[in-house]
Amino acid sequence: MNEPNPVRLLLASGNPGKLREVRHALEPHGVTLLASSDIDLPPFPPEDAPDYRGNAAIKAHHAAKASGLPALADDSGIEVDALGGAPGVHSARFGGPGLDDADRVALLLERLTGVPEEERSARFRASLVLALPDGRNVAFEGACEGRILHAPAGTQGFGYDPVFFSLDLNEPFGTASLEAKRSVSHRGRALEHLAAWLDTPTAHAFLDPSQVTPPPEKTD
Ligand code: IMP
Repeated sequence: MNEPNPVRLLLASGNPGKLREVRHALEPHGVTLLASSDIDLPPFPPEDAPDYRGNAAIKAHHAAKASGLPALADDSGIEVDALGGAPGVHSARFGGPGLDDADRVALLLERLTGVPEEERSARFRASLVLALPDGRNVAFEGACEGRILHAPAGTQGFGYDPVFFSLDLNEPFGTASLEAKRSVSHRGRALEHLAAWLDTPTAHAFLDPSQVTPPPEKTD
C-alpha cells in the first residue's frame, strides 16, 4: 500500500448520515472531507440522468466546478425484480411528491401484494463519482442483494431498510446495526472500492494539482 494521499474532498450532499459514513470510510486514507454546508454552492441542477452514475456525476461536477475542489457525490436506489427493476433511479421519488419514507415503503408493499417470497428478489445499488474542477471524473459502484419482506421489520436505517432482507447479513437492514449494514451495503462497498483506489499511484496522479495540464492560452 502507498502512503495515504493527503487530500481535501468536498462531499456534494447535505445528508449528515452520509457525511459520517463517508468520513468513516475515507479518513484512514488521508482524506479530509468537507461538507456542502461548509461552502456556499449555487443550487444543484436537476438529477435527470437515466442511471445512478449519471446522477452522481451531475452532482459531483456541479460541486467541483463551483468550489474549485475535488468533489464526491453518490446516487443510489433499490431495484425490485418483480417490478421490472423499479423504483431504481426513481427510488427517492417513488409514488410522486409529498410521500415520506413510510409512505414509499407502504406503496412498495402494496405493489408486491400477492408476489410470493421466491419472486421478491431485490438489490440496492450505489454509484460514487469523484469529479475534478477540470471536468475529469472516476466512478465506483457497489450493490447488495436481498428480498422484499411482506411487512416492515425494525427501526434502524432509513428509506427502504425496514423491508429489505439482506442476504449477506441474513437479517433485515431495519434490524441490523449501522456497523453491520455498512460492511455489506451498496454504499459501503462502493466506498471500499474508492478507499482502495485512493492508495494507488493512479489516484495520487489524478488528485495531484500539479499534474493538471493548463488549458491553452488564448492568443487573440
Ligand atoms: P439518494 O442516493 O440519496 O438519492 O437516495 C435514493 C433513494 O434510494 C433514497 O431516498 C432511499 O429511498 C433509497 N435508498 C438508497 N440507499 C438506501 C439505503 O441504504 N437504505 C434504504 N434506502 C436507500
